[in-house]
Amino acid sequence: MNHHSSIVTSDLDILEDLDAVKRVERESDGTTAVYLETYGCQMNVSDSEIVASILRDSGYGLTRDAGAADVVLLNTCAIRENAEQKVRHRLEVFRSRKRKHAPHLKIGVLGCMAERLRDKLLEEERLVDLVVGPDAYRDLPLLLEHADETGQSAVNVQLSREETYADIAPVRYDGNGISAFVSIMRGCDNMCSFCVVPFTRGRERSRPATSVLRECAELVDAGYREVTVLGQNVNSYRDRSNGTSVSFAELLYRMSELSPDLRIRYSTSHPKDCSDELLSVHAVRANVCNFIHLPVQHGNTDVLSRMRRTYTRDEYLDLVDRARRIVPGVSLSTDIIAGFCEETEEEHADTLSLMREVCYDHAFTFMYSERPGTYAQRKYADNIPVHVKKRRLGEIIELQNEISFESNRKEVGSTQRILVEGPSKRSDNQLCGRTDGNKMVVFDRVNGVAPGMYLDVTITSCTSATLFGMMKSE
Ligand code: SAH
Ligand code: SF4
Ligand code: F3S
Repeated sequence: MNHHSSIVTSDLDILEDLDAVKRVERESDGTTAVYLETYGCQMNVSDSEIVASILRDSGYGLTRDAGAADVVLLNTCAIRENAEQKVRHRLEVFRSRKRKHAPHLKIGVLGCMAERLRDKLLEEERLVDLVVGPDAYRDLPLLLEHADETGQSAVNVQLSREETYADIAPVRYDGNGISAFVSIMRGCDNMCSFCVVPFTRGRERSRPATSVLRECAELVDAGYREVTVLGQNVNSYRDRSNGTSVSFAELLYRMSELSPDLRIRYSTSHPKDCSDELLSVHAVRANVCNFIHLPVQHGNTDVLSRMRRTYTRDEYLDLVDRARRIVPGVSLSTDIIAGFCEETEEEHADTLSLMREVCYDHAFTFMYSERPGTYAQRKYADNIPVHVKKRRLGEIIELQNEISFESNRKEVGSTQRILVEGPSKRSDNQLCGRTDGNKMVVFDRVNGVAPGMYLDVTITSCTSATLFGMMKSE
């Protein structure tokens, strides 16, 4: 890749000056440096690791320093309007840098905003040089080359029915060497009425089990201790390649046999696909964590039907009972949307009452944000005023904090086996790690205890977000 960078020193501030020096140093070794920034869900984090792998194999270097980059790629999210706004703001920042100091800089949009905004980004706003959708990453080196050689923008937002990147070994450039994401399926066919994902990521498809198992075995060999298996609707996974038929439950079972020291989690599961067979894998296999993220979205059956979630409140509650019966002590978390189209106060109250009934250990909560092209946008009015949405969301968050605190309080005095991850956020004198049920435990450093070890800790106190503990004395 050629560089047409002429470095003009007169109007550079000190920072830009340093950037320029770094750029010159690096240019002398001939690599093109790519800076990759990731927004959105774990699938996007996992996709960025695939992008890094594809670019590295084509001779690009990754940099953590945006200022030193020749190429800036933003892997974007379109799930709510504020996610898109964040990315637009970042694009403005890079755009201005390019205009003022770095004419050679190439700016690219990857991921979920690519498909929808391609025309806008390229034509109306002239913000970017590259737009690449989530199924077109193999094309990135060619597209980059094209943009570089012609000075024109390069685009591929084609969605695929087959692409799973099964043969690409992710470069886990931002990982801790202990926990890894493994994508096993892509896309989504569910068409929940509020959701943009089926439009941005296309049809659901599963990656062959053999390739998933191979990747996990390699992770075990490399010393990893935890895998989070990813898909938008991960429990509808089915591998039908080569005349086989492997279900999600079977895949998990086989993964769990790779090593007793490899913990396994997954995200996100849809209630409709949570079979007894799957639940019993949690019960039978010690290293399949007793934790399920089981998004309910809402507590009222009419709203669930407007959301096209395919289950009623009672069916969901039955599922929770079933999960707790088959997997005693299972931790549950959820996603909840406040202020969906036409939501009444009574309907909102049903969400609160469902939360009390289920007692989730954790909840991710969102204000409804209308997405262009979705069924809800076409059929229902986004008619809950923002201040009402905010108030309802506030009530949901407050209640969940109480419930989380109560659930954590019950752990005080118990002994939990945690996987040590690293220093805690607050202090280098403390370490942290997660319980089987996905709760974060913070404890004082102990000689000989290092990230990657399993450790028994006694829980001594808690907040609604964190457990505090100490190493169990023998
Ligand atoms: N595939 C996952 C969720 C993907 S998006 C699943 O089905 O559970 C993550 C969460 O974002 C969703 O569970 C939902 O709670 C929320 N979300 C999706 N679209 C939204 C929208 N338009 N407005 C607000 N929240 C939304
Ligand atoms: Fe979106 Fe529903 Fe698919 Fe989840 S299951 S990605 S919420 S359409
Ligand atoms: Fe966002 Fe795409 Fe994930 S829209 S939440 S990055 S699937």
